[in-house]
Amino acid sequence: MLILGIESSCDETAAAVVEDGRILRSNIVATQTDIHALYGGVVPEIASRAHTEAIHGVVEEALAQANVTLSDIDAIAVTYAPGLIGALLTGVSFAKGLAYSANKPLVPVHHLRGHVAAVYLVEPDLKPPFIALCVSGGNTELMVAEDYTKFRFVGTTRDDAAGEAFDKCARVLGLPYPGGAAMDKLASIGNPDAFRFHEGAVDGAPYDFSFSGLKTAVINTVHTELQRGRELDDAFRADIAASFTKAVVRTVVGRLEMLLQSGEANYDVVLSGGVAANSHLRKACAETAQKYGKKLYLPPLKLCGDNAAMIAAQGYYEYLAGARADLSLNAFATKRV
Ligand code: KG4
Repeated sequence: MLILGIESSCDETAAAVVEDGRILRSNIVATQTDIHALYGGVVPEIASRAHTEAIHGVVEEALAQANVTLSDIDAIAVTYAPGLIGALLTGVSFAKGLAYSANKPLVPVHHLRGHVAAVYLVEPDLKPPFIALCVSGGNTELMVAEDYTKFRFVGTTRDDAAGEAFDKCARVLGLPYPGGAAMDKLASIGNPDAFRFHEGAVDGAPYDFSFSGLKTAVINTVHTELQRGRELDDAFRADIAASFTKAVVRTVVGRLEMLLQSGEANYDVVLSGGVAANSHLRKACAETAQKYGKKLYLPPLKLCGDNAAMIAAQGYYEYLAGARADLSLNAFATKRV
């Protein structure tokens, strides 16, 4: 069964063709990062307009690279939540029009379910149940995937997502948007104990995450050090990146370990989302999973960030479970998985 996936929840316009939820036939991503880099972050209205300009060509390219035409496609899967509302609406409206005109079933896909499904494309043996830890630019979520389309919520961020914190800390260090990958490299050469940043905790909700206090602590530390006359050089950047990364990794891995230790989800672990590209987080999650005798499944770097292959992969399982949308399908900026 061939699914055409469409993704436009933030600043990537993407389309892909996936066979039976597991075999990648094509994967086209048109990124807008160069445009948003001028402003130091995503400008929602600019993102919506750029999606509108790119989406038709991106879908055509995905079909061409898969060597199929629209008539070969069995269903169209589209991200409908969560994300920037104008950006989501571009993809949803385009998918609705395409499904209606070609008389194809339309399948709504939750973006975070998609991030988790990215791993299906490279791990043919992976099947639920498993622990799903999704760490991305807009979301940080600890879940249990009880089945392909049944998720149990465990913990979420109460404020900023981990990726957002990476990008804001990178910005104060003068690194271009999005700064996550640059922070990763700098953290490898810095001293993680140079600055003491505390991990955020939420009273009464031990599995929830909080990164805004950590982000503010980093920004204040950088400003204070600069006011004291310190140079914003690579050594300073590396020490801040390493100390910040240590706090993020401890926060994320701490929740994972608590869940593994509790015994209430005695499963292997899937780490996904844009920040799953972080080498320090990958290593720490692998060590923690191994400590509890579990396997860690990871997407390859090119499937960590937003893409439509993951939407098509999850779309296949949503389709099998009977999920269908008609022309009344709406987009939602926030929606629990
Ligand atoms: O998954 P994604 O494309 O966005 C959402 O679905 O929300 O993730 C993008 C985020 C950005 O914040 C980017 O800085 C971060 O992932 N990122 C990283 C790394 N590579 C990308 N963060 C830390 N380390 C990395 N290596």
